[in-house]
Amino acid sequence: METKLFTPYQVKDVTMKNRIVMSPMCMYSSGNEDGHVTAWHFTHYISRAVGQVGLIMIEATAVTSEGRISSKDLGIYDEDHVAGLKKLVDSMKTYGAKTAIQLAHAGRKAEYGGEIIAPSPVPFDGRAKTPREMTTADIAETIEAFRLGALRAKQAGFDIIEIHAAHGYLINQFLSPLTNKRLDAYGGERDNRFRFLKEVIEAVKTVWEGPLFVRISADEYHPEGNQMEDFLYYVNEMKRRGVDLIDCSTGGIIPAGIQPYPGYQVRHAETIRREAGIATGAVGLITTAIQAEEILQNERADLIFIGRELLRDPYWPRTAARELGAAIEKPAPYDRGW
Ligand code: FNR
Repeated sequence: METKLFTPYQVKDVTMKNRIVMSPMCMYSSGNEDGHVTAWHFTHYISRAVGQVGLIMIEATAVTSEGRISSKDLGIYDEDHVAGLKKLVDSMKTYGAKTAIQLAHAGRKAEYGGEIIAPSPVPFDGRAKTPREMTTADIAETIEAFRLGALRAKQAGFDIIEIHAAHGYLINQFLSPLTNKRLDAYGGERDNRFRFLKEVIEAVKTVWEGPLFVRISADEYHPEGNQMEDFLYYVNEMKRRGVDLIDCSTGGIIPAGIQPYPGYQVRHAETIRREAGIATGAVGLITTAIQAEEILQNERADLIFIGRELLRDPYWPRTAARELGAAIEKPAPYDRGW
């Protein structure tokens, strides 16, 4: 059967062999708490490359050390991080996967011993630390850290960069009126709240010509939070600045009890794709091939991001191909008819 899931997808000069993306997932496995790649990352990501995932997006990787969610996060805040990441990229590519990195800063959600920073001094919840309000110098330094992160990602050989602007982390904290109470040019109306992300995109673009994705939380589950109308404004602005794909997740900006169901976030990928005319990625409780195929065939999204199902089954693409009756490559040496 001619499936869409197993049809190649091209963005700029990068062609993925299928539409399956490994969704970024923190492994909290940087052993010495120094942001470096460890043996676990090789086993974890290469398994999915052998399993025929088209694009492997490695976990949220911090652009500053205090921007890590935990002390065991991967980092790209030091030149020394490049060598390990490059080795990991080369290994994933050996097995035919395209590679992406998600650049991140946790802002007020950093579970970090020292001082944490955010657009405004508002803690996440009753138990969380109160962040220090970022000065304009902090803002400029953090934008520069994203630029350096992108430069190092390029040196490591990644095919695609994704900026993490979702799940209530730093960029999301600037975008949302629930967390951004600033009175300067970075707060207030939505064009001001967008300014930080805009400047991050512009800075990344000075060193990165390849495909650029942005993950957003397209639903804040709060009546006073950003609404779809606001997201469409941000997405149109991003499109004008050369962002290639919006990876549509939801939530995380405030504590909210979400009750997920199969494909619970797909409608946001569909709306943004239709209304803004930009490629989108769908994610969230997509676990079967038929579900993925339905989303693609009905033109609700361009790429399918798979998270937890790929943790349970590193060979999920093979499972999906079997479900759809589609042909799938066997990597050498498994291609000898064994
Ligand atoms: C995640 N998720 C996530 N998202 C993100 O943008 N950056 C990240 O680093 C992480 N880390 C992470 C770790 C773990 C262990 C899980 C389970 C999830 C969210 C993930 O990418 C995905 O959006 C959700 O898990 C929903 O998709 P699934 O799992 O239902 O396919």
